[in-house]
Amino acid sequence: MGWFLRVGLLGVLPWVQPSLADEPGSAERGRVLFALAGGCGCHTAKDGPVGAGGGEVPTPFGKFYGTNITPDLETGVGAWSEEELIAAIRDGVARGKGVESPAMPYYWYSGMSDADVRDLVVYLRTLPPVRKENRPHEGELPFARLAYRLWRTLFAPRFERVRERPREPIARGRYWVDHVSLCADCHTPRNFLGAVRFDLYLAGTERGPGGDKVPNITPHETGIASWDEDDIVQLLRTGFTPEFDNVQGWMAEVVEGKGGGPGYRDVPEEELRAIARYLRTVKPVAHKVEAEED
Ligand code: HEC
Repeated sequence: MGWFLRVGLLGVLPWVQPSLADEPGSAERGRVLFALAGGCGCHTAKDGPVGAGGGEVPTPFGKFYGTNITPDLETGVGAWSEEELIAAIRDGVARGKGVESPAMPYYWYSGMSDADVRDLVVYLRTLPPVRKENRPHEGELPFARLAYRLWRTLFAPRFERVRERPREPIARGRYWVDHVSLCADCHTPRNFLGAVRFDLYLAGTERGPGGDKVPNITPHETGIASWDEDDIVQLLRTGFTPEFDNVQGWMAEVVEGKGGGPGYRDVPEEELRAIARYLRTVKPVAHKVEAEED
């Protein structure tokens, strides 16, 4: 009887496991997502305040400044509904303005789960509201909104939308890398039209954001084949490579967070480990990233 009952229960367990998607949004879980997203650093200027806009995003199409995403009613997103915020993050549609520029990686976030994007929005609403006007983009194209719409139609990758993040560690690692932490966004090159080169997925680029070099992080000898899981976790925790170099620039910002906000180093180790495990399984790509010759 005992045996029968236990087997019976095991069969039922997957049914009774609570689904994140059915719970109300949580600011506490949202803060972990914000950390996993590297503190959404483009939306924070070097010295903060967190989320009040002003982070510089230099692109081949002009210099952009991250917008104010604090709940200030006039200069931030305080007047936006939950649906509007979610549409801005996953669909690239900004309330009252239309399609966002490709500088906002909404197409990667498009694969973020319903439960996670909702928790993230609940967290954003808990940021102290800051009154700070957005800075206009410099060197923006004429008919920019039309151009962004066209770009989205032609080049934005489309990802499957899920209700809930995957539970299995390697699948969850892929989910963080592609859709929340955006390792894939910075570490994958683009062509001259800004389309993602999936043939060089995670293989690094000479011209990353702001023209910085971004290393190959696939398990190839031109990448990080010699790193084990612990080395990757350590880098995400501390910013130190196995050679005790510490990473600089954009990578340092996503590890440390910006303006005093959270970054990868504040993420529970279990999730960093999922990222590391997944990275060890991606296709090794031969791609040596070298300094560009001027
Ligand atoms: C905003 C852009 C950006 C994001 C997001 C980003 N990286 Fe990086 N990453 C960089 C840059 C730039 C460097 C080079 C830093 C340096 O040279 O000091 C780097 C360096 C690294 C290195 C060191 C490689 C080496 O050979 O020294 C690893 C490993 C790494 N990143 C993994 C990741 C992982 C994993 C994620 C996601 C959890 C991630 N990165 C997200 C830009 C980014």
